[in-house]
Amino acid sequence: MALLIRNGEVVTVGARLQADLYVENETITRIGKDLDAPPNTEVIDATGKLVFPGFIDPHVHIYLPFMATFAKDTHETGSIAALIGGTTTYIEMCCPNRNDDALEGYQLWKSKAEGKSACDYAFHMSVTKFVKETEAQLRQIVADGTASFKIFLAYKNFFGVDDGEMYQTLELAKRLGVIVTAHCENAELVARLQQKLVAEGKTGPEWHEPSRPESVEAEGTGRFATFLENTAATGYVVHLSCEKALHAALGAKARGVKIHVESVLPHFLLDKSYAERPGVEGMKHVMSPPLRAKHNQAALWNALAGGPIDTVGTDHCPFDTEQKLMGKDSFVNIPNGIPGIEDRVNLLYTHGVKRGRLDMDRFVDAASTRAARLFGLYPRKGTIAEGSDADLVIYDTNYRGLVSATSHHVNNDYSGFEGMPIEGRPSVVTVRGKVQVRDGKFVGERGRGRMLKREPSHF
Ligand code: URP
Ligand code: ZN
Ligand code: ZN
Repeated sequence: MALLIRNGEVVTVGARLQADLYVENETITRIGKDLDAPPNTEVIDATGKLVFPGFIDPHVHIYLPFMATFAKDTHETGSIAALIGGTTTYIEMCCPNRNDDALEGYQLWKSKAEGKSACDYAFHMSVTKFVKETEAQLRQIVADGTASFKIFLAYKNFFGVDDGEMYQTLELAKRLGVIVTAHCENAELVARLQQKLVAEGKTGPEWHEPSRPESVEAEGTGRFATFLENTAATGYVVHLSCEKALHAALGAKARGVKIHVESVLPHFLLDKSYAERPGVEGMKHVMSPPLRAKHNQAALWNALAGGPIDTVGTDHCPFDTEQKLMGKDSFVNIPNGIPGIEDRVNLLYTHGVKRGRLDMDRFVDAASTRAARLFGLYPRKGTIAEGSDADLVIYDTNYRGLVSATSHHVNNDYSGFEGMPIEGRPSVVTVRGKVQVRDGKFVGERGRGRMLKREPSHF
């Protein structure tokens, strides 16, 4: 059925206008004033509301075998939570480990999403080793429409690559025109510091941050940048957490390195005192890179507002209380990750736009458009234009509520953002023209999501 969205304030990067949107066959076909509603058109009145392009989360984990357990969401639960929060596309990290075959891993990750996700999705393909068949396999994966890679400089002997493997990955990525995303922490230093702290009897979650200090992340970020500089590849630092690492990235950018920066919701709103809470409360806030000293937040907000931080993702990675307790005797065994897929847009809008830290343009750019541009989805996704997919978020700025695990849809028994206020939420969310969410409830079609095929563009 065709859809007409009337009288909303349409917000895209660089423009805000009062307009109607007409949608046929999954696509926005007309934008204008006082558009007609032909017979069989569903009409939605968006008077007094903002209309955003569907938001894109460039960094999520849905299926993830990690630290002797599995992240809790499935594509059914994760995509519904994403949609309720206004995210209409997510890019999942496909993460086979060093002992797995990359191509088999890729097929496995695809099979977990296909027919299950209610929103559209794509993958970043992790390169967790570089052996003789890797180049051919990665070529096949890129030809299948997955035009971004992921490397981990952390997680030694599991996901982590050494410098030789990083070089080979970047060199191939340059030839293929593929952007490489990277988790930047020095694996060796993390392993040594973990051992030292545990040997000293420092085993609680409050020692997670000291085991991966800011300098360890800054080193990883700087090293990644140096490798980009010497391969001419394009890179994207994921979940950057602190000012020191930001300096490393921005210094490289200033000398012409093609490096982009993502930070993630927890690093803007939570600080290391959350992980210093006693017992399991602290464990719930263990992720990597760790939550940092509070002064880093101002640096991140400023860099986001000004543009040096390109995107805000979530690094959504839910482990429940029982799983977190796997690390009760040592922080080294606490599964790393904090969920956030449902809360990113509302918390960023509230604590960014409403609190005056972020203008509307940068909000839309950082939460949708920039990711679409960097990862080969634009202008199909990430904007509102004739010919774009009708992924739309009609946003109610008068809504008031609190984030809580008692009402969220993520398959997890806690929220890292419990009790935080939100001042706004999606009232209607569409995926390719179909209404999937109304006022906090999923009302749509499960399994509607499609894998988005992307072309390499970073030559
Ligand atoms: O703590 C985190 N970030 N967990 C997910 C895995 C990763 O490093 O992104
Ligand atoms: Zn990571
Ligand atoms: Zn991650």
